Amino acid sequence: MISNIKAFFDSATWTVSYVVFDEPRGSCAIIDPVLDYDPKSSRTSTRSADKLIEFIHQQQLSVEWILETHAHADHLSSADYLKNQLGGRTAIGHSIPVVQKSFKKIFNLGDEFIPDGHHFDHLLTDNEPFQVGKLTAKAISVSGHTSADMAYQFDDAIFVGDTLFMPDVGTARADFPGGDARQLFRSIQKLLAFPPETRLFMCHDYPPTDRSVEWESTVAQQRAHNIHVHDGITENEFVAMRNRRDAALEMPTLLLPSIQVNIRAGKLPSAEKNGVAYFKIPINLI
Ligand SMILES: [Fe+2]
Repeated sequence: MISNIKAFFDSATWTVSYVVFDEPRGSCAIIDPVLDYDPKSSRTSTRSADKLIEFIHQQQLSVEWILETHAHADHLSSADYLKNQLGGRTAIGHSIPVVQKSFKKIFNLGDEFIPDGHHFDHLLTDNEPFQVGKLTAKAISVSGHTSADMAYQFDDAIFVGDTLFMPDVGTARADFPGGDARQLFRSIQKLLAFPPETRLFMCHDYPPTDRSVEWESTVAQQRAHNIHVHDGITENEFVAMRNRRDAALEMPTLLLPSIQVNIRAGKLPSAEKNGVAYFKIPINLI
């Protein structure tokens, strides 16, 4: 059982980032770090990322990996900032070129954006093992929310990305380009096939008013209580529910800026001749 998991909750985007480490003064992986972004002023800030850095310095950890579960659409990634500050290798699922290609088209990016995944130091394949100091971790392909989602297993703990949410919230949407509700259901079944006591760590929580924010559940709890995928719900029932629900959801506030940073592994778009970087906002397309 792995005990060294530190969660950081970002209340602006409801995102949970994690530092997983083998032991104090040992090695760590960072999962889904946030770069703060104020859409009103279009200013970034490293307030959230600096909290991770402070913890990593306190524990005297060396960073081996900066992992993204997917190209997030609701927050910008601070992977590039953290890599510059702390070192480590960035990684995401091996299908990220599919996501990059579809957004290259949407944002009409030029020849300088090559959608081959090279922005990341490593692309993880399904079931690929990797080391974090003394810990052996494994990537598990869980596409559906996007076509490149990965979950990361460290012993009895799995960081599930945007697949499952807490049981009373349900599951992630599957209506972004490359998303697929049927595939999401199958990926979730992979996670729910782990032993009942397996601990699942969410990438988000959107708590109802009667409870505070939580990010940890178990396979047993999800199978018994998840409102969208508890035992007994069929694939077709899930797909019908998911598609109906997704049709009524608004786009995330930070969708357009997030994607432009996250398909570049957390780098901002290149600055123009005046030294300023710009986001592109397509009109009447999304
Ligand atoms: Fe997401």
